[in-house]
Amino acid sequence: MKKIAIISTKGGVGKTTTTVNVGHGLSLNGKRVIMVDCDSQNNLSDIYDMESDRGVNALLMGKRAWMCEVRRNLFVIPSGGRNLIEYEWKLATQKNRHRRLARSLEDLANCDFVLMDCSSSMNLTNINVLAFADLVIIPVGMDYFSVSGLKQTFELIKDICQRTEHHVRLMGILATQFDVRTRISREIYGVLSRMFPRELFNTVIHQNTKLRESPAFGKSIFEYDISCNGARDYIKLTAEILAYDG
Ligand SMILES: Nc1ncnc2c1ncn2[C@@H]1O[C@H](COP(=O)(O)OP(=O)(O)O)[C@@H](O)[C@H]1O
Ligand SMILES: [Mg+2]
Repeated sequence: MKKIAIISTKGGVGKTTTTVNVGHGLSLNGKRVIMVDCDSQNNLSDIYDMESDRGVNALLMGKRAWMCEVRRNLFVIPSGGRNLIEYEWKLATQKNRHRRLARSLEDLANCDFVLMDCSSSMNLTNINVLAFADLVIIPVGMDYFSVSGLKQTFELIKDICQRTEHHVRLMGILATQFDVRTRISREIYGVLSRMFPRELFNTVIHQNTKLRESPAFGKSIFEYDISCNGARDYIKLTAEILAYDG
């Protein structure tokens, strides 16, 4: 089982988009996948119309969460929304608060991939995610602040891993929302590939309107328009993740 956190301290970089499309991509390749919505904003769960007070909040309590098979071999655990925020407050004073999710999710282990769609704030839920994950994917948008955001994400991950004494490996940095028409995209991508020649995924996710539209229809990009550039990029990324043996 590969336990992958899709994480970044920067919002709007494509964490949820990547989780949904890689998750569906992996399941279409015959893998059994659980996508965990670790963001109280509930974006991932909303795509599948899932709202529940028994989501990640329940897992943090050591209780069972609602898990729904949204497509063949593809499961979603919702975040719990407001309940997750409330429970984080309670959890703040409790013992073993960092390993709650790890313990609950370990019991669910009967799958090939667990993809955790993280929020952009380094809260207790994300600390719990990092105490469970063995790999992280860091999506990076092609804008001016992306490199400093990446540095901040690295530092926080390192910090949390030291505190929880749990090691996670970087599976890859993912360039997202690459706009071929703009110089800034080429420049930022150039900087990233010089700084992280080995860590950067070969796949680049281009800016694509279909990727923006598909969640509104409750669909992954493969259901919404399999022939668009966004689907092509996520097929490539799925293949790269399947081939990963680090
Ligand atoms: N490659 C892309 N092309 C066009 N729009 C995108 C792309 N990736 C993400 N988006 C859009 O950008 C917004 C933020 O993406 P999202 O995946 O929700 O980011 P995060 O989860 O990191 O906050 C959403 O409206 C999403 O549809
Ligand atoms: Mg998100």
